[in-house]
Amino acid sequence: MDPANVGPAHWQALRRLAIEAMDRAYAPYSHFKVGAAGLNEDGRLVSGCNVENAAYGATLCAECGMISELIRTGGGRLVAFACVDGSGRACSPCGRCRQVISEHAAPGMLLAMPEGIQTIDEVLPGRFGPADLAT
Ligand code: THU
Repeated sequence: MDPANVGPAHWQALRRLAIEAMDRAYAPYSHFKVGAAGLNEDGRLVSGCNVENAAYGATLCAECGMISELIRTGGGRLVAFACVDGSGRACSPCGRCRQVISEHAAPGMLLAMPEGIQTIDEVLPGRFGPADLAT
């Protein structure tokens, strides 16, 4: 599957899974729960929630948990992504998470942003990637 094949049913499944993940977030400090869900090119869905820490800087974003599950379950490239806050509204991934996601993005990967659907190149233009290490 590539991003061109992502349709309303996929977005609905991603949103539902992101909400499910958000419900399990551990956010006793910020009280800002986040759930993230991704669709792999093979059709597999992966998800994650934020996990905070008393040492605030050790907090893990929801997207990090999602990428960890992606790798643990066989890797591959993501074609679509959705992230929600505690109200179920689309949540913008932070800059670091955009970088983490982009390493595993299929070309033209789509993200459900608060402004609507955008591509990985739109949310992280000029991104640094594996090819830059080879120069
Ligand atoms: N957070 C995420 O999980 N993902 C993001 O992309 C932005 C921020 C979490 C980290 C912290 O637990 C809470 O949201 C408030 O910053």
